[in-house]
Amino acid sequence: MADMLGMDPGRIERLRSPDRLAYFDPAKIWPILQTGADCTLVDIGAGVGFLTLPFAKANPGAKVYGCDILEGMVGLLAEDAANQGLGNLEALLMQPNAIALPDGTADFIVMAQLHHELDTPEPLMAECHRLLAPGGTIAIIDWKDEDNGKSPAKGRRVPEASIRAQLTDAGFTDLQSHNDIYEFHGFVTGRA
Ligand SMILES: C[S@@+](CC[C@H](N)C(=O)[O-])C[C@H]1O[C@@H](n2cnc3c(N)ncnc32)[C@H](O)[C@@H]1O
Repeated sequence: MADMLGMDPGRIERLRSPDRLAYFDPAKIWPILQTGADCTLVDIGAGVGFLTLPFAKANPGAKVYGCDILEGMVGLLAEDAANQGLGNLEALLMQPNAIALPDGTADFIVMAQLHHELDTPEPLMAECHRLLAPGGTIAIIDWKDEDNGKSPAKGRRVPEASIRAQLTDAGFTDLQSHNDIYEFHGFVTGRA
């Protein structure tokens, strides 16, 4: 049976809402990463495809994997990709710390508004390092660790120093912060 936990209609509506664009426009991510038109992008915790659908549409030569642990999310993403004729976007059901793709598949990995939901980020960071081609880039974008009136509550946010330590422990180098891009979100990149 499909896993429908976390699939309440209100949450789906919030994730899809164009209101998010006012403070979290995914189009601002790609110039920072310098994604090429024919790159391979893996989005972890892709949800309903707020990042992956527009990216796949704008980059028909790219291969895009939208991965999530919820079958329901993956189903919605697959449906929208098919409806939009996006043959370059594959919705992939993943295990909490494991993605069924070969080593070195990705040029870029993006994780957006996911980190604060992870109980143990370390194994997922290691899995990201395995999935990235040498020199590939990971981007972690999540709510800034400050009381800025947006959800989640401050106690559930992850300090940038913790994210940096996890990335370093997983073998990532050249860590960079891009905290001027979004008002409410921190943005850290690292290189495999
Ligand atoms: C807040 S939503 C963000 C979705 C999307 N990144 C966006 O910005 O619209 C977090 C998503 O991460 C997924 N998720 C939670 N824990 C996960 C994990 N350990 N691995 C992969 N995905 C996870 C959830 O099912 C949900 O779809």
